[in-house]
Amino acid sequence: MENDMQEILIPTEELQEKVAFLARQLMEDYADKDPVFVGVLKGVVMFYADIVRQFNAPCELDFMWISSYKGTDSTGKMIVQRDVTQDLEGRHVVILEDIYDTGNSLAFTYQHLLAKKPASLRVCTLLDKPARRKEGITLLPDYTGFVIPNAFVVGYGMDYNEHYRNLPYIGVLKPEVYEK
Ligand code: IMP
Ligand code: MG
Repeated sequence: MENDMQEILIPTEELQEKVAFLARQLMEDYADKDPVFVGVLKGVVMFYADIVRQFNAPCELDFMWISSYKGTDSTGKMIVQRDVTQDLEGRHVVILEDIYDTGNSLAFTYQHLLAKKPASLRVCTLLDKPARRKEGITLLPDYTGFVIPNAFVVGYGMDYNEHYRNLPYIGVLKPEVYEK
């Protein structure tokens, strides 16, 4: 897998430092709120597991799985494959995401969870790729790990064709890997 990388964009140590920083921020804001952390599968798994283990206060864990609707045109329409199981009404909810790219997934997830009437709803994303944001998407993450350039990244949960999720760092694939 290492040979398929053009560059290691964020090494493991840097990821761990940033996760610790974000977890401290979440502790400051949510330690007394018994928040529900909603992870958007699958890309978030590593980030999620690392964040919640450093949140040393009561909280609940839940997950959503969404995918883009395979229609005739790419309108960015999303569907819920698997919804959260907890009742979120009146709860303090934090969405955890791996990457904010075009913004379609997060905008959809945000509206979907908002309809469940949480007491508050915020977004924490490990990566933000603002260059790719779709016009009309105005949602800004409340907590951001790294702002990255417009490159396709893999590792630390993120995939290309379901592979590379298990890499402990975030890397940029060599173009010949996805051009073949
Ligand atoms: P969106 O374009 O903001 O809706 O992002 C949708 C999802 O695509 C993200 O949650 C990621 O799981 C995935 N994604 C976006 N950009 C990348 C990337 O560079 N590498 C791997 N997955 C990505
Ligand atoms: Mg994701």
